[in-house]
Amino acid sequence: MSITHFYIQDLSQKIGETVSLKGWVSNKREGKGIVFIVLRDGTGFCQCVVTAETAQENGLDTAQNTRLETSVILTGLVKADEKQVGGIEIEVQQIEIIGDSVDYPIAKKEHGVEFLMDQRHLWLRSTRQWAIMRIRNTIIFSIHNYFQKEGFVQMDAPIFTGNACEGTSTLFETDFYGSAAYLSQSGQLYGEAMAMAMGKIYTFGPTFRAEKSKTRRHLSEFWMIEPEMAFYDIFQNMDSIEGMLQHVIKDVLHNCKQELETIGRDTSVLESSLGTFPRMTYDEAVRIIKGEQDVNGQNSIKLLESELEAAQKRLTEIDTDIADREAQINSGGMKKGQINFFTAKINELKQEKSDVEEDLRNIPQWLNSARNFEYGNDFGGSDETVLTKLFDRPVMVYDWPHEVKAFYLKRNPEDMRFARGVDVLAPEGYGEIVGGGERETNVDSLIEKIHEHQLPMSEFEWYLDLRRFGSVPHSGFGLGLERVVTWICKLKHVRESIPFPRMYGRLTP
Ligand code: 4AD
Ligand code: MG
Repeated sequence: MSITHFYIQDLSQKIGETVSLKGWVSNKREGKGIVFIVLRDGTGFCQCVVTAETAQENGLDTAQNTRLETSVILTGLVKADEKQVGGIEIEVQQIEIIGDSVDYPIAKKEHGVEFLMDQRHLWLRSTRQWAIMRIRNTIIFSIHNYFQKEGFVQMDAPIFTGNACEGTSTLFETDFYGSAAYLSQSGQLYGEAMAMAMGKIYTFGPTFRAEKSKTRRHLSEFWMIEPEMAFYDIFQNMDSIEGMLQHVIKDVLHNCKQELETIGRDTSVLESSLGTFPRMTYDEAVRIIKGEQDVNGQNSIKLLESELEAAQKRLTEIDTDIADREAQINSGGMKKGQINFFTAKINELKQEKSDVEEDLRNIPQWLNSARNFEYGNDFGGSDETVLTKLFDRPVMVYDWPHEVKAFYLKRNPEDMRFARGVDVLAPEGYGEIVGGGERETNVDSLIEKIHEHQLPMSEFEWYLDLRRFGSVPHSGFGLGLERVVTWICKLKHVRESIPFPRMYGRLTP
């Protein structure tokens, strides 16, 4: 009798039956005459128990010979067991090794991030990375679903381009049959052409930025989703951004419960993000950052000052706690279990300490940039952090000084100092996740801007044609997939949000 191959995620429907599983050993514990294997198969994790009594032939030997990441096929009885992951345990009858795994480089002990990034091809197998990648997958699928449901057509923009969309300073140049070409920074300009053909479109593709900056927000290669809508003004554009983001958040909350739990994501901010996003002009946002205007009774400067004070106090507490526990361990007379417990607690405290120390470095900088923000400037990371600290959901800031924004944005007809761009800033310190706006339709204003930005006019003639032949008001936006994954998963750095990150200083693996 051949036994069907099942995936771990489907096991709860198979209780009392015998199934075959194919996967890798993600953890192994041994006792006398018994081996516990936590098997992973990409769809989930499951404890499998091997004993001489229940496993055939040399099943126990085989199980003993497995190591971390050995691949196996096993057959066993599915039993309900509330104490185990997924509420299931497999009583193994047969086990066969498919591929051995000698000296797997990622041990269970703590590794530094740079080491793990060098091992990214293997690190992806870890539970946490597994959860992040599944959330990323849900987000991608949800974005497609949202736009398809709203009647958008998915179209692709080219990667090789002759022009700069977001400014010339961050272009990757390449050779295109002897001529200079650039890797696309954004599909937007092509998106505008496609929207004039199809009404509502979205692109979903890789984009490239050659910033030589090592921040937790910047990748050199990232995936951007760029919808473009004919006959939409900036306010309809904002409705669309909010609708899409809330659709995505709902899907993640609904479909990724196990993954969110695995990465320890507190979901309260995701839940509050299902409420209306505040919309404010640049002017209002600046007043809030500088502490000239309160939000729900909270003041940016006062909030930062109290956070600084709290961090200083917490640091002292942690130091005392660590010293206390170390002294108790060193005094002798503690049982082994108690020592282990204390050591684990000390490690936890040390982790918290490094976070608090980071806050102590950051908060004074944030305070400084809030106090000294110069009206008219674009927001930096610190300004975004200060502003969004006062909100429990994304904030939309629109009508920016036209000088600091891209050439293609429409000027506010009622106040020409401002361009109708909108940035969406995520809470919890994450900052910009979406940038977009209403597009300029006036050919002469566009020509003036192209000159002002010192862009090569010849490369934009086709773009100007969109204004010469049946021009209509239109808007769109660009959502950085990795920025959204990073926020939704509350990651410390964008590098964990993409399978193989490309960023300043990293091209491998
Ligand atoms: O704000 P940006 O530069 O806007 C555009 O490219 C427009 N053409 C989009 C449009 O209106 N169609 O980039 C859009 C988003 C940012 O909000 C951010 O989420 C992400 O792309 N992004 C990056 N993500 C990771 N690494 C980088 N270096 C990024 N630069 C931008
Ligand atoms: Mg932007």
